[in-house]
Amino acid sequence: MITTDERSFRLDTDCTTYLIGKTKYGHLEHIYYGNLLSKEDGVNVLAQKRSIMVGSSVLYSREDDVYSLDGMCLEWSDNGRGDYRYSPTEFKMPDGSFVTDFIYERHEILEGTVAMEAMPTAYGGDQTLIIILKDKTYPIFIDLYYTVFKQTNVISRRAVVRNEGSVPVTIRRIMSISMDLPDECFQMYTLDGGWIKEGNLHKRPVSYGITVNSSTTGASSNRHNPAFLLAEADANEDYGSVYAFNMIYSGNHYSIIEKNERDYVRVCMGINPHLFEWILSPEEKFETPECVMSYSSQGFNGTSHNMHDFINEHIVRGDYKKKERPILLNNWEAHFFDFNEGKLLRLARDAKKLGIELFVLDDGWFGDRNHDRAGLGDYRVNPKKLPDGMKAFADKIRNIGLDFGLWFEPEMVNEDSELYRSHPEYAIKLPNRHSVLGRNQLVLDLCKKEVRDYIVEQVSSILDEAKISYVKWDMNRHIAEAFSTALKNQGEFYHRYILGLYEVLTRIFGPRSHILLESCSSGGNRFDLGMLCYSPQIWASDDTDPIERLKIQAGLSYFYPQSTMGAHVSGSPHQQTLRETPLATRFHAACFGCLGYELDLKYLSPEQRKDIAEQVAFYKQYRKIFQYGRFYRVKSYKSNKVIWETVSEDKETALTGFFQTLATAAESSDKLKVIGLKKGRFTIRTRSQRLYIERFGGLIKHVAPVELNPDGVIMRVANRHYSLKDCVETYTCSSEALAAGIPLCEQFIGTGYHESIRMLGDFGSNMYITEKENEQQK
Ligand code: GLA
Repeated sequence: MITTDERSFRLDTDCTTYLIGKTKYGHLEHIYYGNLLSKEDGVNVLAQKRSIMVGSSVLYSREDDVYSLDGMCLEWSDNGRGDYRYSPTEFKMPDGSFVTDFIYERHEILEGTVAMEAMPTAYGGDQTLIIILKDKTYPIFIDLYYTVFKQTNVISRRAVVRNEGSVPVTIRRIMSISMDLPDECFQMYTLDGGWIKEGNLHKRPVSYGITVNSSTTGASSNRHNPAFLLAEADANEDYGSVYAFNMIYSGNHYSIIEKNERDYVRVCMGINPHLFEWILSPEEKFETPECVMSYSSQGFNGTSHNMHDFINEHIVRGDYKKKERPILLNNWEAHFFDFNEGKLLRLARDAKKLGIELFVLDDGWFGDRNHDRAGLGDYRVNPKKLPDGMKAFADKIRNIGLDFGLWFEPEMVNEDSELYRSHPEYAIKLPNRHSVLGRNQLVLDLCKKEVRDYIVEQVSSILDEAKISYVKWDMNRHIAEAFSTALKNQGEFYHRYILGLYEVLTRIFGPRSHILLESCSSGGNRFDLGMLCYSPQIWASDDTDPIERLKIQAGLSYFYPQSTMGAHVSGSPHQQTLRETPLATRFHAACFGCLGYELDLKYLSPEQRKDIAEQVAFYKQYRKIFQYGRFYRVKSYKSNKVIWETVSEDKETALTGFFQTLATAAESSDKLKVIGLKKGRFTIRTRSQRLYIERFGGLIKHVAPVELNPDGVIMRVANRHYSLKDCVETYTCSSEALAAGIPLCEQFIGTGYHESIRMLGDFGSNMYITEKENEQQK
């Protein structure tokens, strides 16, 4: 766990060791982060050897010609003392300079976690080390917090600045972590994208100079998620050294990787210094967001597993921690703004027949919200759409046998709204400039207490009145014109906005932990650990095209477990990509998350209804494994395949999604590997799925007894009522054979069709269920 001696601090998790050294001048050195060391190993052997003076370097001490901060692996660093790399701080000191010299003063070791006052903190840690640094000249302190989450192999870090002097200090930058590692030909992996293409994984070599991963939009953003990996060059899903980093914060974030000429790699992570300035008055402290780190020598799946367990155990809280999430129907893509009570009740009744559990009424139920140009801010029910009010409507949904959930976008206002007409000062804007809009809306100023009170009061009263059990909390534009009349110093704006958001969420949902909160920001524009402290799941993307979701959900899976990702089955052709995909593939992709449906069920054919009812029943049967199982990205060796697997806690059941992106002509044999099972004999079988005859077009004449026009009425009617059976395979074998890979039946290549040919084509998929043979079966 945490042990210290004169020269070092050592933090052990079950599988990793993190070692910090203290130099004779009181600087902190980063000594080691990697696999668990033996008890005897320590600073003596593992510290960088300092035996040469590097020309043109600045020396810290006149008596010591090999002690140059620039050439050391440090755990924290200053400006103006000879380290020319990116410093985790930039303070304007009482003498007007930016020079600091933070030196070890003392340390404490506490049991458990130390929660922050205004920001979410991971909970349930084992021990916390606080190393207190003091500037050599002024009474300014930096407390470095390290919390060990032993079983999940995660260590969290954060910094707190305290001003115990008599004059204010201006903080222009304060990172949560800084650490230097010797380079291992590191590659950096980040999640980048934008609206409807969030979370795409990108890899780049760590080269000389600085690489930045940051957001300036006011949210953690869909452009660059705060999480990133640093991995040795040859690392893959199952092998190699990988470091994962993430941040419990929902605002502007900033991470740098800097490689210097000595081949040391610095990692810094924290609040984005962009437009940031904080005046720290005497007796005040500034808390930075908590960052989390994990190491694994077992490749990307290794760090993913650590991060998944950490989130399920130490981030998600409240009644929905580790609890199975309901299958929902969201009416947005079915209706957009065009609905009335009759349409909604019909949709809800159809949903109930299919086995769905929760009905979510999305945007458009309040004020004059008949389009996206009006109504945001006015959370009173539109009587034209719901004549008897929200409570009566919610009761009707519950009488159908479904739980009821509701959409809000509480941080926003339309200029065309009662709220804006009566309180224009609630919106973020500058008095002397015209305001810029995003999706026709302005952002409410969460730095203001009266705005926070308004939101808490509005949202809470509806939640209580209509006994809502699920909330979708949306946020559909980036912040611009950062300015608040409540602030003297506008450099505090972005951070104070996020503190305001956390306060509002705590006040609304703290006393209502029975409500399942799903956060959303035009999809995954605020998919981060900060939001996950309040909302157990997040709408991963407005993009429900399953082929795009293979990239989005796979990207997110490097850092976030399936239980955090809202994933829905929607219509085809897809709304944004126009891609046509089989219903089965839409379902199989959504299975590896919290399943929902988002389409107008009244247009489903009888055959599709049967299909969806079977999907829902199947998901319910294996829901726990889909949401909380051990997730693997399985190597496929073919560029047109994506294979995902999730394994039960007892390692006796595995569910594998086998996805084909673009088909190739005369595709070679496919192999299916099932990994992570306990030793023993297992049966693997394909989930049986329908083959819709429209997929065959003109080919149908080869199997039908009479010639049919592929685009004729008979075919269209037949397609609604009949389907063919796709290939089902069943094998019994050992876990070793499954791990080596089972060759699957061949794919269709145009030379015949029968039930032992897999009919995948473009965007086809199969789900395989692998279950341990029980005693009776033997
Ligand atoms: C955003 C969300 C969607 C939907 C609409 C409603 O785009 O991401 O899921 O709720 O808003 O306006």
